[in-house]
Amino acid sequence: MANFELEDSHLIPLYQKFPLKIVRGSGALVYDEKGDDYVDLSGGYGVAIVGHSNPAVVRAVSEQASKLITCHGSLYNDAREEYLNLLSRHLPGELRRVYLCNSGAEANEAAFKFARKSTGRRKIVSFSGSYHGKTYGSLSATWNQKYRKPFEPLLDGFGFAPFGNLEKAREVIDADTAAVIVEPIQGESGIHIPPDGFLEGLREFTREKGALLIFDEVQSGFGRTGKLWACENWRVFPDIMTASKGIAGGVPFAFCATTESVSSIMRPGEHTSTFGGNPLACAAATAALRFILDQDILSKTVETGSYFVERLNVLKQTHPRIVREIRGKGLMLAAELKIPVKDVILKGFDHRLVLLYAGLNILRFLPPLVITKDQVDRVLIGLDQIMKELEITGPSKTAEPIAAG
Ligand SMILES: Cc1ncc(COP(=O)(O)O)c(C=O)c1O
Repeated sequence: MANFELEDSHLIPLYQKFPLKIVRGSGALVYDEKGDDYVDLSGGYGVAIVGHSNPAVVRAVSEQASKLITCHGSLYNDAREEYLNLLSRHLPGELRRVYLCNSGAEANEAAFKFARKSTGRRKIVSFSGSYHGKTYGSLSATWNQKYRKPFEPLLDGFGFAPFGNLEKAREVIDADTAAVIVEPIQGESGIHIPPDGFLEGLREFTREKGALLIFDEVQSGFGRTGKLWACENWRVFPDIMTASKGIAGGVPFAFCATTESVSSIMRPGEHTSTFGGNPLACAAATAALRFILDQDILSKTVETGSYFVERLNVLKQTHPRIVREIRGKGLMLAAELKIPVKDVILKGFDHRLVLLYAGLNILRFLPPLVITKDQVDRVLIGLDQIMKELEITGPSKTAEPIAAG
């Protein structure tokens, strides 16, 4: 039996912990200390996009580590050049310049600073249900009161509009709006695809009012929806885009990309990060992006994703008292349940599934994009058994709600 005491006794208790210690990963599988394999539907919260310990990423990291691990942004570096050269050919729309950093929240912080400085305006508009991270700026644009309340006052000038409601968004975007930030598909709130015309409308209103449009592609980007960037599904392109999670195959990395015109306003020293653009992460990111492009991962994601949805819809038909709705795009999927999700997640470990939640009753699926159809079958067999068990026993009386995030 795994022992969890060591981590629990040393770490500040900030994470909702689950009773599984993983020591190894390969593709869409993770392994515990006994060597038992689990299908990973969480993918480290959507990070393991190219698969756990992807061999190309492992090779790139180990080769780079033996050459040079750190190189500050004030000096030039070959691994960084190689990544920028590749990435620049795959940025959407008019995005031409990037700032390299280390996490999703940090990329969004950069986006807000670039937007405020380049427009000379103050206000940032985000949406109900949004999640942009937990640093002060990103938290100010994050919706959930549970994350915000204990840390108030948050930053001035941040406000919300209802997600999906264009009319209300139009009302709040005004002459002092620096930027509107939106996840092209909301992740943390439980995989919500915007209604038709929403992103197009935001693009139009922001342009009309001289505000910038920021797409937070931290969760929806890098192939997750079957396009390299989720915004390509609508052919709507932002002035600023942030990305992180799996872009370096699991090595911490992020970027904030923008146009020549926004970039031209920024001056040396105004925004930097010691680790930003370090050679190790750049080498990993080049390998991860090449893997996605060369192995045709985008078409595979569309194919496996639609198979997954098909199977989930069968699950819904089989368990109408438990499953309310299946939704999503590519391999960014959700099953909204009529029962608390905690029971399903905990039982998942007995069926060797690592499941992920969103809110109290939504199962969220962010598996590595290399997950096979056989592994999807294994997931659905497990979920069917779990739901059968729950139909017999009912939801556990003791299950506390999950503290999300
Ligand atoms: C859409 C979105 N933006 C930002 C973040 C924050 O990223 P990080 O946890 O790397 O700071 C997340 C994390 O889940 C996210 O899903």
